Amino acid sequence: MQIHETAFVVSTYRSHHEDISKDIYAKLWNNPATDAIIPDIFKRVSKYEAILHSLRNRFFYERMNTFFKKNEGGTLINFGAGFSMYQFSFGNYVNTIEIDKKDIIDYKKDKVDHWTKEGKLPTRDITYSAIDFTKNNANKIVESLKPLIQKEPIFILLEGVLFFLDKKTTKTLFEVFKMLQKPGDLLGVVTYLPEVENTTVYKRLLHYFDSNNDTHDSFCHQTIPEAYFHEIDKYQLIEKTDEFELSKKYAPTIKIGHKNQILNETIFLLEKI
Ligand SMILES: C[S@@+](CC[C@H](N)C(=O)[O-])C[C@H]1O[C@@H](n2cnc3c(N)ncnc32)[C@H](O)[C@@H]1O
Repeated sequence: MQIHETAFVVSTYRSHHEDISKDIYAKLWNNPATDAIIPDIFKRVSKYEAILHSLRNRFFYERMNTFFKKNEGGTLINFGAGFSMYQFSFGNYVNTIEIDKKDIIDYKKDKVDHWTKEGKLPTRDITYSAIDFTKNNANKIVESLKPLIQKEPIFILLEGVLFFLDKKTTKTLFEVFKMLQKPGDLLGVVTYLPEVENTTVYKRLLHYFDSNNDTHDSFCHQTIPEAYFHEIDKYQLIEKTDEFELSKKYAPTIKIGHKNQILNETIFLLEKI
């Protein structure tokens, strides 16, 4: 599986559980090739994957909606945005900057423009920026993004991306966030903690990626300890949760026995100080 295919998979997951994800536009990205992959992932990795990805979307939807309503607007900068559709669920007082690799950005812009013209999507102020995080230093990324920011405050989102990055690139991104944000701005991040590496389901995930890597699209399988998020320069941790906890709140009927049985991602909400 190529990394960009994961964006289609995650978006299709959100469309399976619109009541949980609150993403009523995700289904626009559904396609037969992705639909054909998903039953195999449920079987070989975990049947809970669609619900878990919908839960993390719900968490960020709630937090960003509250942030932008309270501030009567602002900018969402979505790093590794994939086919996220948050901006269409917020009012048009929110600007969005979408960052991803060039193939995703070109494809997304084309489709979104087309669906907006057709009336399938509401009109939103969206700027697209093609950046490969591994190929640019922090100053260069900041230089290209700063002129695109028209409204403050800023909510930065890094969702479903850290797993694919190495330590150096991760450090670069946190430098970028620090340079772009002002005190009071928020940063939402999702990661696997190293504890997850001991679970059978995580081993199944790695095996799945290894056995389906027909393109040699290499990535890092990164996990990050919780301590990292307590020590980020100029940020304070204001909320920590995980998908297991979120399932109790937003999907109480699914009843997961123990968090070790699922690919439990941890979510951190940080505030710039
Ligand atoms: C699993 S998808 C998640 C997409 C979206 N954030 C979501 O949660 O639906 C991972 C995304 O990270 C992007 N990505 C991975 N490595 C990247 C890099 N080095 N530079 C830019 N984007 C990257 C991929 O292209 C892909 O869109």
